[in-house]
Amino acid sequence: MKVLVIGSGGREHALVWKIRQSPNIEKIFCAPGNAGISSLAEIVPIKADDLDALLKFSIENKIDLTVVGPEQPLTAGIVDLFEKNGLKIFGPTARAAELEGSKVFAKHFLKKYQIPTAEFRTFTISEQYDAQRYINEIPTPIVVKADGLAAGKGVAVCETKEDALESLDTMFNQKLFGDAGRQVVIEEYLEGEEASVFAICDGKNFVLLPSAQDHKRIFDGDKGKNTGGMGAYAPAPIMTDELLTEVCDKIISPTLKGMTLEGREYKGCLYVGLIITQTGPKVIEFNCRLGDPETQVVLPLVETDLISLMIDLIEGKLEQSKINIINKSAVTVIIASGGYPDDYQTDKPIFGLDQVSVMKNVIVFHAGTKYTKDKIVTAGGRVLGVTALGNTLEETIDRTYRAVEKITFDSAYYRSDIGKKGLDRLKNISF
Ligand code: AMP
Ligand code: GLY
Repeated sequence: MKVLVIGSGGREHALVWKIRQSPNIEKIFCAPGNAGISSLAEIVPIKADDLDALLKFSIENKIDLTVVGPEQPLTAGIVDLFEKNGLKIFGPTARAAELEGSKVFAKHFLKKYQIPTAEFRTFTISEQYDAQRYINEIPTPIVVKADGLAAGKGVAVCETKEDALESLDTMFNQKLFGDAGRQVVIEEYLEGEEASVFAICDGKNFVLLPSAQDHKRIFDGDKGKNTGGMGAYAPAPIMTDELLTEVCDKIISPTLKGMTLEGREYKGCLYVGLIITQTGPKVIEFNCRLGDPETQVVLPLVETDLISLMIDLIEGKLEQSKINIINKSAVTVIIASGGYPDDYQTDKPIFGLDQVSVMKNVIVFHAGTKYTKDKIVTAGGRVLGVTALGNTLEETIDRTYRAVEKITFDSAYYRSDIGKKGLDRLKNISF
C-alpha cells in the first residue's frame, strides 16, 4: 500500500511511526511533514490546506489510503473531495466535521440529543445586546467561545462579568478571530478534571483508543495561557472502566446515532473532550481528529494494526475488528521554543537527539523542526514531543524527563509536572 499522511506536527510523526509498523506498506508520503518525519516517510512539499494539490498528488501517485491529521482540511471538505474521486481517506466529511468546526452547531446538537454538556446559549453578531444581557444574568465564572476554528485560542474562561463582556467584545467588535467569532457560545463553567476519549468510528460502530489527559496551559500547575498542549499521558487514571462505559452509553453512541439522523454520518476519529463533574462526565468540546499531543501517547499503546483498522472503518466493517491495547503507561513532554504561545525565535540548532535515540522505550516525535544543511533546527512553537513507555505512570514520567533533560536548544522550555495529576489520583486511590 501507498499511504499519504497530511500534516506536519507531532501527531503526524506519531501516525507515520505507527503506520510504518503495518505490514504491506510499500511507501509512506507526508505532506508537508517535518525533519523527524523525513526519516520515515517521503516528504511532499504541499500544505495541508491545499486540497486540490493533495488530490492531484494522490491520483498521480496512486495513493491507496490518505490519513488526515489536522482539522482544517477536514472541515474544508477533503474527505468529500477524495471520496468523490474514488480515493480512500480516513476522516469525517465536512458536514460531520462541523462537530469541531462550529461550536454553535455542536452545542445545539448536544442539546437536541440530550447529551450531557454545560448549560449555554448561542448568539450571532447581531444579537450582541442579548449576549451582554445574558452575561449579566448568569453566575460567574462564565465561558465565552468563538464559534469557528481558532487554533485552540477561541475560548475564554472568565472569572468576572467584565472579563466576559470584554471577551465578547474581542470576538464581535475587535474581530480577533475573524469569521470564527461572528457567532459565540456563552456557557456555564464546569468544575472538575478534564480528560479526553478517542473513538474510532465507522458511522455506527466504534472502538476506543486509550483515554488521555492533555496539559493545555503553558506553566506548571495549569497556570498561564492556553497552548496547543504541553504534554499528555495515557491511560488517564481518572477514566475508570465505569466512567468509560458511561461515556460510551451517554455520549459516543447517542452522538453517532444523532449524526446519522442529521444526515451527517460520522466516520473517523471522534475526540471527546470531557470535564468529569460531580454529576458525571460532560462534553466540553468535540474534535474531528486525533489530538496533538495525545496521539503521541495513545498510538504507542495500540497494538492493533492501524491501517487495517482504518480500512475496516472505511468499508463499514469496524464491528468485526477488535482493538488490542498494551497494558502500559505512556507520557509525552513537549519541548517548546521560549516565548510560546506568544512570539518565539526559530532556527535554533537542537542538541542531544542522538543520545536519546539509543534510550530504550523512548521515542522523540518532532513537531516544529526542519533541516538546515545537515543540522536539525527549531521551526515552530512546539518543537519536540518526548514520549516514553513504562509499566507504571511514575516510572514512565521519570523515564520521559530523563530523556527530556538530554535535549537542549537555545531558550528551550518545558513543563516539569506532566502526569502529576494522574500520579496524585493514583496515590489517593491506593491510600
Ligand atoms: P475547548 O477549546 O472548548 O476545549 O476549551 C479550551 C479549554 O477551556 C478547555 O480545555 C477547558 O480547560 C476550558 N473550558 C472550556 N469550556 C469549559 C467549561 N464549560 N467549563 C470549564 N472550563 C472550560
Ligand atoms: N491537544 C488538544 C487538541 O488536539 O485539540
